[in-house]
Amino acid sequence: MTTDKLEKEIAAGGYKFPRSENLPVLLSPVKISGTNVTLENSLAVHPMEGGDFALEDNSPTETIVRRYRRFARGGAGLIWFEATAVQEDARSFDRQAMITPENVDAYKRLVEQIKTENPNVKVIVQLTHSGRYSKRGRKPAPVITHHSLPLNDRLPLPPDYPVVDDDYLDRLPEAFVRSAVLARKAGFDGVDIKCCHCYLYAELLSAYQRPGKYGGPYENRARLTLDTISAVRSALPSDTIVSSRVGMSDMMPYPWGFGVPTDGSVACDLTEPLRLIGDMRDRGCTLFSLTMGTPYYNPHVNRPYGKGVPTSPEPPLRGVERMINTSAQVKNAYPELTFVGAGYSYLGESSPYVAAGAIEDGMIDIVGYGRMSLCYPDFPRDIAVGKFDRKKSCLTCGKCSQLLGGFRPVGCPVRDSEIYLPIYQDLLKERAEAGK
Ligand SMILES: Cc1cc2nc3c(=O)[nH]c(=O)nc-3n(C[C@H](O)[C@H](O)[C@H](O)COP(=O)(O)O)c2cc1C
Repeated sequence: MTTDKLEKEIAAGGYKFPRSENLPVLLSPVKISGTNVTLENSLAVHPMEGGDFALEDNSPTETIVRRYRRFARGGAGLIWFEATAVQEDARSFDRQAMITPENVDAYKRLVEQIKTENPNVKVIVQLTHSGRYSKRGRKPAPVITHHSLPLNDRLPLPPDYPVVDDDYLDRLPEAFVRSAVLARKAGFDGVDIKCCHCYLYAELLSAYQRPGKYGGPYENRARLTLDTISAVRSALPSDTIVSSRVGMSDMMPYPWGFGVPTDGSVACDLTEPLRLIGDMRDRGCTLFSLTMGTPYYNPHVNRPYGKGVPTSPEPPLRGVERMINTSAQVKNAYPELTFVGAGYSYLGESSPYVAAGAIEDGMIDIVGYGRMSLCYPDFPRDIAVGKFDRKKSCLTCGKCSQLLGGFRPVGCPVRDSEIYLPIYQDLLKERAEAGK
């Protein structure tokens, strides 16, 4: 979106966004709290599942290597590597990343290639259990911690679908530790215990009605996340960053969502999320990437989009505003911790000014970009010197998400068309043949 158009929309809608012309502030180094690590600048690439790890051994393929080399060349201080399953039944599908003792050397080569492009970049791997979005091969094989009716309806799942028992959950911290130790061996600078978007760890946070030690009161619902952070922290050398991508609010009505008011309205209530972040900090987690919603239920909350299907039920700027200002409330509650913010890709050409304003006003420490980095991987180098190229900007058209939904390698069919347009066309053909 052009700056003029955005300014008009902001004025007409009464939106509140930070803003600064001081773009060099985006190049300010950022020290990650509780560590000796300083990022080269205040820009990050968000994790984005790529859907193209090798079927035989889950190792990175050529397109993955290309994607991450491009990210590294772009110059962001931090690359948050995509969702990486901690065990076989935790995978979102058969081409999701998963580090194993057999393929760890291939991941090591990938990290080396990233660091060859930019020796100063830090790379964090997102460790995950896909929970209700797990698949065996490409067939749904949900692992659920409780029956969330709105999410069950979307999958769909019958009311008698089995829920995992406490013994299963008791074993998960070990799985995260195994993966974290392998990730360290591969050379990643840090690990993320993923706790967002209604995957297993995030889903458990709203298990208000689950009986036993993992359900009911906050202490029980947060137990697995906190135990996992403690276990991972104590298993890794002290120079490894322990971080989490946390959902500030599921934006689903109570009793199905975490971080929502108990009156059933669809809004944020940060009481429990703030408590969780404080408890995670006490267990040794010092870097947080903030997000909200889930792509499977309310994608407009998670990644506001301008074009494509489904149509957003709210003006996209409302979603961007919510994400930026809610993150600022979290930062305000924990000024000593380091936070990565999301929601900026939609703002296109105007995003550097909003990002600079957010950093200058202390609303966030690091600004992350997801979709923008797929279509315009050089954006970090360009935006900080005021050379953002509108023709390379993200259209927020949703085609990258469609590729992931269609189990295809993920990239931008519009701006990186040589590689991804044929893949996208193939997906459309497959869908047309299947009558979808
Ligand atoms: C194709 C695609 C894959 C994604 N995969 C992940 C993922 O692996 N882990 C995650 O936490 N978020 C994932 N996301 C969400 C992004 O990290 C990001 O939060 C979201 O796109 C909003 O940022 P943006 O507006 O800059 O794109 C994905 C988004 C897209 C479009």
